[in-house]
Amino acid sequence: MAIIKLSHLLAAVLWVGGMFFAYTALRPAAMETLQPPERLRLWEAVFRRFLHAVWVAIAVLVASGSAMIVSYGGMGSVPTFVHVMLLLGILMIAVFMLAYFIGYLKLKALVAAQQWPEAGKVLGKIRQWVALNLTLGVLTLCVVGLGRAGYLS
Ligand code: HEM
Repeated sequence: MAIIKLSHLLAAVLWVGGMFFAYTALRPAAMETLQPPERLRLWEAVFRRFLHAVWVAIAVLVASGSAMIVSYGGMGSVPTFVHVMLLLGILMIAVFMLAYFIGYLKLKALVAAQQWPEAGKVLGKIRQWVALNLTLGVLTLCVVGLGRAGYLS
């Protein structure tokens, strides 16, 4: 069980920490230093790597989270904060799917075709989805922290 919990925690840190770095450090730095074609190429290359790592993190979160719930005796036996975490986790996965399938795959095609204005618009949409998921991710961590401290049981 310790390994399962640890992998759940590491997957959550990878996903939320990666979004925090992308949003608060890489994005302003890219705006400051790069013109649109280079900036859009950079984001396509960044997402190609990071979003694939997030697929792995999601698989680990869902598998380890489900295993913990089963070992605790099912959803009827877990505290309220786990129900809230599951709901927020499902929302985060849905937003990630939008960012991947409607955002990243389109961005990749537009960058390959060198259609910079359209690619810029798609990048703007991805930015909004990442902002939303970062907010949901931080909220989830707050729910877990407060729940484990006994406030949301
Ligand atoms: C997607 C479905 C998810 C399920 C089914 C799930 C389930 C669980 C369960 C059962 C626990 C153990 C609670 C306890 O021992 O009291 C847990 C812990 C935790 N979860 Fe989730 N979770 C999910 C998603 C997430 C997400 C999206 C995040 C963060 C972004 C997250 C962050 C955490 C953290 C930080 C812990 C504490 C780990 C520890 O104590 O070592 N979970 N989760």
